[in-house]
Amino acid sequence: MTKELLNKLTLEEKIGQLVQVDPSVYDISEETELFGVSNDTYYVQKDRFLYGSILGINNKNHAIRIQKQYLENSKHKIPLLFMSDVIHGCHTIFPVPLAQAASFNRNLVRKAATISAKEAASSGIHVTFSPMVDVTRDIRWGRVTEGYGEDAYLTGEMGYELVKGYQGDLGNNNVAACLKHFAGYGAPDAGRDYNEVTLSKETFFNYYMPAYARTLEANPKLVMTSFNTLFGIPATANKYLLRDILRGQYAFNGVIISDFASTSNMIAHKYADGPLSAAMKSIKAGLDIDMMSDVYSKHLKLATEKDPSILKLIDDAVLKVLKLKEKLGLFKDPYRGLSEDNQGPQFYDDGTNLELAIESVVLLKNNNLPLKNEKVYLMGEYADSRRTNGSWSWVGGHISNNKTLKEVFPNQTSYEEADVIIYCFGEGERESGESQSKTNPSVKLEDVKQLKQLHDNGKKVIGVVYSGRPLILTEVEPYLDSIVFAFYLGNQMSKAIKRLLLGEANFSGRLPISIPLNVGQIPMYYGQFTTSRPRNTDDLTEQYVSNYKDSPNTPLYYFGDGLSYSEVKYHTLTLNKTKLSEGDTIKLSVKLENLSDIFTKEVVQVYINDLFSEIVRPKLELILFEKVSLNPKQTLVVELELKYESFMYKDGNNENKLEEGPIEIMIGSPRKILLQETIEII
Ligand code: BGC
Repeated sequence: MTKELLNKLTLEEKIGQLVQVDPSVYDISEETELFGVSNDTYYVQKDRFLYGSILGINNKNHAIRIQKQYLENSKHKIPLLFMSDVIHGCHTIFPVPLAQAASFNRNLVRKAATISAKEAASSGIHVTFSPMVDVTRDIRWGRVTEGYGEDAYLTGEMGYELVKGYQGDLGNNNVAACLKHFAGYGAPDAGRDYNEVTLSKETFFNYYMPAYARTLEANPKLVMTSFNTLFGIPATANKYLLRDILRGQYAFNGVIISDFASTSNMIAHKYADGPLSAAMKSIKAGLDIDMMSDVYSKHLKLATEKDPSILKLIDDAVLKVLKLKEKLGLFKDPYRGLSEDNQGPQFYDDGTNLELAIESVVLLKNNNLPLKNEKVYLMGEYADSRRTNGSWSWVGGHISNNKTLKEVFPNQTSYEEADVIIYCFGEGERESGESQSKTNPSVKLEDVKQLKQLHDNGKKVIGVVYSGRPLILTEVEPYLDSIVFAFYLGNQMSKAIKRLLLGEANFSGRLPISIPLNVGQIPMYYGQFTTSRPRNTDDLTEQYVSNYKDSPNTPLYYFGDGLSYSEVKYHTLTLNKTKLSEGDTIKLSVKLENLSDIFTKEVVQVYINDLFSEIVRPKLELILFEKVSLNPKQTLVVELELKYESFMYKDGNNENKLEEGPIEIMIGSPRKILLQETIEII
C-alpha cells in the first residue's frame, strides 16, 4: 500500500515527507498564522501541507488540532508524524539516563520506558528521540547525563531495554524509538560539545559501536545522525557510516533522521559549500529526514535536476517514512485512539519511578549511615530545591509536584543541636545537558569552603551530591563522613534519598562511569590498556613508565563502585569448561552469600582480560552483568552463560576477531577483582 501511495506522489510531495518542521508552522491562531507567513525562513509556507513530520509536540489537543487541519488541507491525507524528546519520562519524570544506568537494572529501565511511552502516546507523540547510546569517557561533555556512561556493553544493554520498552508491539500505548546520535558523538575532542571526534576505527568499533549495535538488535524504527565528524566526515552526510555500516553491516531499514539542522550545519563545518551541496551529500549518504533546516525543503528538488540519480534515493527515503507511518497505525487512525478533551496530562507511574530512583543512587563512602534517631540539619544549595528533574524534562517538567529533601526528612533540628549535617551540593539540573561542557567539572569553591568549615567545627557530615554528571570530589572527600552520589533522579528524588539515608531501603547502585581524581586525568575510564610500559609501583618518581609525575593513574571512584548496607561475600567461581572454540558456550557459577541481616541487591560484574591479541585490548572489559536479590543471610549460586562471541573483538573493518590463547575471566569490579579463572580459546 505504501508503494502505491508513493507512486501517486509528485516530486514536491515526496520531498515534503522528508522535511521536519516545528508546530508553529501549523498554528492556526490568527496571530501565529500571520507570524508564520512573514517568518518563511527554513520552510516554504505554501508547502506546509506537504511536510511529513513535526518536532516537539507535548500536548494532545494541540497535536490533534494540527493533524486535523493538516489532513483537511493535504491532497493525499498522509498523516503527520509527531516526534519529541521524551528522554527520561514524559509527564512522570524518571531518573536521568546516567542515573538509570547506575541501577544496572534492565527490568526497571524497561518498565520506565514502557510508562514513558504510554504517557507520550497519550499526549499525541508518535516517536521519541531516545535512547541516546553515545558512550562517553569524558565528564567535561555536558551530555554525559543523557547517556549510560563509559562502557559500551552497559550502554548497549540499557539501549536495548529502552527500545523494547518504548516500542512494545507498536500499539497505541507505544511510541517508536530513535537511536541517537549516530555516531561517536560522545567522544568530542576535549569534551567540548559538537567538537571533532578523532577516534581510530579500531577504537570506535570496539568501544563505541557495540552500544549502537546492541541497541539496534531491539529494532528501533529510527536512527538520528550526530553533529560531529567521524573519520573526517560529518555523520549526517557520512556514506560509510550510514550506508555501509548502518544499512549494510547492521541491515537497518528504518528511517534515518538528521539532528537539529545538522544538514545546514555542514556549511559552517566547511563540508558543503551551500545548502544545495548539503542536500546532495546528505541524500546520497542515506539521510531520509531533514530536521529543522531549509536544506531539503528548499534545495532537494534542485539537487534532482543536477543529478537525476537522486530521484531514486528520494523514493527509497519516502517509502521508509510511509512505512513508519503505516507501522504506527496512522493510516488507519491518524489520532491513534485519541480525541480532544479537557483532561490534563496522563500519569501512568505505578511505583516504578521510586523503585528506579532508589536503585540509581550510589553510596561511595560510608561512616555514619544509615541514620537511626540522629537529629539532622539540612543545608547546601539543593536541600531546599524542587529542581530535581534533570535536563531534558521539558515535556513534563512539573516540578511543583516534587518535594524538597527538607520537606520530607524527619528529625530536623537546628545547626547547633544537630548530630549530623546533611549537605546537599553539586551542580544544578541544567548545568549538564546539551551545550553544557565544562573544563572543570569539580565541586564549587563555595561548597569546598563550607565543607571544610563544617569539618573544622567537628561536624559529622553526609554529603549528598546532586548532579547530572560525575563531579570530581577529591577536594571535599576528606571532609565528608559519608558520600551519596545521586545523579538527578526526577520526581521521586527526595523520597528516594530519604528512604536510603534512613535505611528504609538499601543502596544497590553502581557507578556507570569513573570519577577522576583530577581534571588532568580526563578521559578517565576503567578499560585502559596496560601500555608498553606499565607502572610497577605507586611511586610517582618512577621513570620511563606510563604514569604522571603529579598524580596516580587511578580514579577517585571506579566504574562499578558502589557500597550498600550489607556485606556480600563472593565465595567461588566455577566454570563448566576451560577450553572454548567457535560455537561453544561456557557456563559460569558464582557463589554469593549475604552476610548481613538485611535484604540486598548485588550487581555481579563479569570482566575479561585477553592476554594476547592481534589488536591490543584493554586490561578489563565488562562482558556481562546480572543484578540479583539476596535475602538476609542467603547463599545464592548465580548461573551465567557466555558465548564464544562475547570474547571477540573487532578489527578496523568491524570484522570479528579472536585468536587462540588464554583469556582471564574475572568477577568483581575494576576496583577489586574478587574471583578469577583462566580459559583457553582453541
Ligand atoms: C539534540 C537531539 C534532539 C534534537 C531534537 C538536538 O539539539 O542534539 O538530541 O533530539 O535536538 O530536539
